[in-house]
Amino acid sequence: MEHPFPVTAPWTPTSWRDFPAEQQPDWPDPSALDRATKTLAGYPPLVFAGEARSLRGALAKVASGEAFLLQAGDCAESFDAFGADTIRERLKVILQMAVVLMYSSGVPVVKVGRIAGQYAKPRSAPLEEVGGVELPSFRGHIVNDAAFTAEARRPDPDRLLTAYHQSAATLNLVRAFTKGGFADLNRVHAWNQEFVSSSAEGQRYEQLAHEIDRALRFMKACGVHTDDEPQLHQVDIYTSHEALILGYEEALTRRDSITGDFYDCSAHMLWIGERTRQLDGAHVEFLRGVHNPIGCKVGPSVTAEDLVALCDALDPDRVPGRLTLISRMGADRITDLLPPLLRAVEASGHPVVWACDPMHGNTFTAPNGRKTRRFDDVLAEIAGFFAAHAEVGTWPGGVHVELTGDDVTECLGGSEDILESQLDTRYETMCDPRLNARQSLDLAYRVAELLRA
Ligand code: PEP
Ligand code: CO
Repeated sequence: MEHPFPVTAPWTPTSWRDFPAEQQPDWPDPSALDRATKTLAGYPPLVFAGEARSLRGALAKVASGEAFLLQAGDCAESFDAFGADTIRERLKVILQMAVVLMYSSGVPVVKVGRIAGQYAKPRSAPLEEVGGVELPSFRGHIVNDAAFTAEARRPDPDRLLTAYHQSAATLNLVRAFTKGGFADLNRVHAWNQEFVSSSAEGQRYEQLAHEIDRALRFMKACGVHTDDEPQLHQVDIYTSHEALILGYEEALTRRDSITGDFYDCSAHMLWIGERTRQLDGAHVEFLRGVHNPIGCKVGPSVTAEDLVALCDALDPDRVPGRLTLISRMGADRITDLLPPLLRAVEASGHPVVWACDPMHGNTFTAPNGRKTRRFDDVLAEIAGFFAAHAEVGTWPGGVHVELTGDDVTECLGGSEDILESQLDTRYETMCDPRLNARQSLDLAYRVAELLRA
């Protein structure tokens, strides 16, 4: 097959180094960086290639319209807010959303967290200026700290090691929670019933919760007990993050002993951000060679031609489940911009998953200076995404959202109707505004309504 991708040189885990890499920190001490990445390269992988292949298989079902993807979690995980409660509450919300989506779509829901490695942030400017003082921008805890002091903002390679260890501990807890009974379907359903009975708009969702309840009672009457059935008692939650800091990703890239292929073992799935998807850039070069399932954000500036070229570069063999395109157009533009892209990718024959990120195209700064998003815009972008797919005849494969299980006030609206004047009450994000637990569930029920429509 002809590969239109301009690069013909063979791929290696280090070949990205010959390409321009956007968004990399200016590490002040190259020898310290070298020591940190060498140490990482000697550490065990965080995930196994076989798990990444299972996820690719699950995503292949999404690509063919037989499953739905829920990719959700933090905008930027923190080295400070790192406790069992935060992780448990976030998982709980993801599990609750997945049950609602599974029931309403009638297909399995593939659950992928923005978790256990989502520490790096792309920034719109390399420097930040406050009151005449200029310092390097905050790039996520894997690089530096958010405090506005020269010391905090200095990129510190030891943070790569902390990110590894914190990812390992988080992943360990995720595995324990998802396999140890916490994710039992009856239990998740009971949490949903609690949400419905205590929600301002609960009535609206009562019918759906009731139907799920009946389905569970029917299964029980048939002799199916959730604690006897692994599929109902345990779940798979895969991990993902933006593959931004390429030295870190390279150090965790390993050759699989079974297939001989390279996998980036820092997470099951990695994605390329909107700011680093240059066709001739280092991020595309690096990710084209690892065999994990990968994602690519697709914003309003992409042309159909560029997008097909990206698909050719990242998925030359047209492997179902290999590539997830995550559109983030903005609520008011998606119905215009998405259909031609869907048609172009469809015509190119790439069996991609299409997911909707309704967050990053709808961010604005409130008068009090807080970055925020309106629940109604988030929902409108998802509705536009479904409409675009209905128009073209493609499968709206899933959603990609930023959320937390904590009771924060970062996004406006939702059934509790958070107002601009309340944003300061519990605004805790280190980067972008996240849906809180109730807004996330509210969203899942709204998407359920769209799926059934
Ligand atoms: C993100 O997902 O947190 C992000 C920065 O998104 P994007 O690359 O789409 O702007
Ligand atoms: Co974000």
